Amino acid sequence: MIKREITDPLLQEKFDQLDRKNKEALLGGGEKRIEQQHAKGKLTARERIQLLLDEGTFVEMGKFVMHRCKDFGLDKEYYLGDGVITGYGKVNGRLVYVFSQDFTVFGGSLSETYAEKIVKVMELAMKNGAPIIGLNDSGGARIQEGVMSLGGYADIFYRNTLASGVVPQISAIMGPCAGGAVYSPAITDFVFMVEQNSYMFVTGPNVVKTVTHEDVTSEELGGATTHSTKSGVTHFACANGLECIQNIRKLLSYIPQNCEEETPRVPYAAGDESRPRLNNMIPSNPNYPYDMREVIEQIADEGSFFEVHKDFAENIVVGFARLAGRSIGIVGNQPASLAGVLDIKASMKGARFVRFCDSFNIPLLVLEDVPGFLPGTDQEWNGIITNGAKLLYAFCEATVPRITVITRKAYGGAYCVMNSKHIGADLNYAWPTAEIAVMGAKGAAEIIFKREIAEAEDPAAKLNEKVEEYTRKFANPYRAAHRGYIDEVIYPDQTREKLIIAFTMLENKVAKLPKKKHGNIPL
Ligand code: HXC
Repeated sequence: MIKREITDPLLQEKFDQLDRKNKEALLGGGEKRIEQQHAKGKLTARERIQLLLDEGTFVEMGKFVMHRCKDFGLDKEYYLGDGVITGYGKVNGRLVYVFSQDFTVFGGSLSETYAEKIVKVMELAMKNGAPIIGLNDSGGARIQEGVMSLGGYADIFYRNTLASGVVPQISAIMGPCAGGAVYSPAITDFVFMVEQNSYMFVTGPNVVKTVTHEDVTSEELGGATTHSTKSGVTHFACANGLECIQNIRKLLSYIPQNCEEETPRVPYAAGDESRPRLNNMIPSNPNYPYDMREVIEQIADEGSFFEVHKDFAENIVVGFARLAGRSIGIVGNQPASLAGVLDIKASMKGARFVRFCDSFNIPLLVLEDVPGFLPGTDQEWNGIITNGAKLLYAFCEATVPRITVITRKAYGGAYCVMNSKHIGADLNYAWPTAEIAVMGAKGAAEIIFKREIAEAEDPAAKLNEKVEEYTRKFANPYRAAHRGYIDEVIYPDQTREKLIIAFTMLENKVAKLPKKKHGNIPL
């Protein structure tokens, strides 16, 4: 603390009082509870902010706020700041707003005043066009406050919704997050979780046991692994608090500050953009897999691919990358998982990512190798129709620059959905290995030549002949290129260079949607 030269002792007392209050506020719920927090392997709310923001940039607001509750003994228990630290600062030199829940004060539980502090920074974030980051570690509604706390949550949910698409909203779950409290992070754009030390659920293991008789731990029910693999609620599962915060800083480097801004650029010097490794990427047997991430790594600036939702619906790969220094969003089918088929989870994952990119002016690159939608009762009964339509709708409505490269399969409805020319893509490329057709050659031949094959002397030979005929006619990019659905069939090694030139050409794209209140995406 700075020692100030004050000559009048009465004035000195006033300054000392402020010093004392500042010190008290920094201690949150006190040293013992800070030790308990550390013993659980958790950082304190203030330590998290220090790690998140550039050194010395944090400006705190509402440091002396106190709750107004007089019930259940709370009139005798006050902590300056009331359990949440709020303010603003910089990440990599760019403004962000932040709130960090302090578990050492009433278990980080949310009171009326605590909610007001969060709402204040959210509104500033919206007015000033900068991201809002919430670091969550809380026992939920402050039980002593009852409906005032519930009202506070609802005030936050409302701001989350208003801010959606205006400024990026990021949530990190670094401790408990239960009950209705989960719905604030759920509305935000990205959810990070810390392995072992955080969980999210609407009802905890005890209620689950009572209602469904299932025995389940907090970690199994709503830990980072569960939500990053099974439910998809979280986009990033991180090993610890530090890694979580580092990943938030990294994510911010790819995204604009608000919906009016362009995507960030980092300096880039053009060099040899040819990538010969891509020429040998596609196996000659169309049923063999390859890893779309390797294609992405060849196309993007070196080491720039930052994958989102990595462990969820692995049959589609989404994430940010840089191309000649500029951020883009990539959506790629993943032949290495379920042959890259589109299913319910993949459609939801892709749609959510496309919506984010479109909200924040991030150009989209689609790398397509998709055999279609996944068949089966499980998919049909759980709504592949509605969920697949989410991805279709998200692409159709996106007005950012959109480019597709078909590397291999583009079959059936999935051809239309995956950013085809027909639904508004700006440029569509195909590699010579592309197969753009209603379905795979074998399936097609079996249907349209069914009788001929059955009546043939050697049905197997007839089938082969017809498969070959279909392959020659349709399992290639040229039919589509003749029609102009494909703008150019390119050599794979040219892909990066072509994309750099194309995205530069599209930099000033203006596209408007018909006037409406808002569309009705099939939720
Ligand atoms: C007030 C709370 C609190 C709460 C914890 N504390 N949760 N105070 N309201 N919701 C206090 C404890 O009394 C304790 O105070 C301190 O925080 C730390 O809590 P511990 O239980 O000692 O910590 P731990 O063992 O780590 O357990 C953490 C916990 C547990 C799992 C979060 O505290 C818990 O189950 N809390 C209640 C959770 C809950 O039911 N919340 C309401 C859910 S409904 P001292 O003084 O001893 O340090 C909800 C609805 C939201 O949130 C709806 C939004 C629409």
